[in-house]
Amino acid sequence: ADKTKKIIVTIDGPAGAGKSTVARAVAERIGLPYLDTGALYRAVAWKLNKEGIAPDEGERITKALASFNLELRPGGLCADGADVTAAIRTPEIDRIVSAYAARAEVRDALTGLQRAQAANGLVADGRDMGTVVFPEAELKIFLTASAEERARRRYRERRARGEDVDYDEILKQVVERDSYDMTREIAPLRPAPGCIILDSSDMDAEAVTDAIASLAVEFMGRKER
Ligand code: CDP
Ligand code: CDP
Repeated sequence: ADKTKKIIVTIDGPAGAGKSTVARAVAERIGLPYLDTGALYRAVAWKLNKEGIAPDEGERITKALASFNLELRPGGLCADGADVTAAIRTPEIDRIVSAYAARAEVRDALTGLQRAQAANGLVADGRDMGTVVFPEAELKIFLTASAEERARRRYRERRARGEDVDYDEILKQVVERDSYDMTREIAPLRPAPGCIILDSSDMDAEAVTDAIASLAVEFMGRKER
């Protein structure tokens, strides 16, 4: 690949802001790899929960993660040899993931794995991409939208999948998870220094993709000079 185009673009923000949809589309448009870090935290929660390890069992977590085989695939994720792409998007994982993600043992393991993916540049979305994992990123976006709009997006998505979901329940869970992620001690969700804050409440995914992709192209151009 063209060395000059190896930039890092980070997209952080609360649940349902459109991060993964937009990050994937931006990456494709500008020809960089895409990294969904939420999926990694979800896969770890899936694994630890399956092994009966609670979020406060630090030693057991470290041990379990040492032998955990997590493979990144273009369209999904394999955990210990099983395709967990669908299994990590359940309401149960939504409920438990943040408690595991607050643990230092979990964050240390995944931060290293994430940095190891950046050799050719990338677009990465999550909660701490711009603040902790890639503070040197050329372009940092904090993507948000009102809680009601984010819950509506989640609701529509789950409905379209044929799930029997309740809007008020989704709104409550989204707000709870955000507040947990924003108030944890390690790598809390917050806008990174120097980031661009984008409120997408009144924008569709296409419009957000256009906006971020054109900023990214501008930064790639600067890097060439
Ligand atoms: O898609 P959604 O925004 O609902 O969540 P996600 O991006 O899949 O992330 C799931 C959870 O993983 C978040 O609520 C965080 O607790 C955690 N996470 C994190 O701590 N740091 C990241 N870089 C990405 C996700
Ligand atoms: O990754 P994150 O939780 O931030 O959000 P997502 O999973 O990318 O998006 C949640 C849902 O909102 C998806 O069904 C998207 O298609 C939709 N979406 C939208 O309606 N408008 C946007 N501007 C962005 C995403």
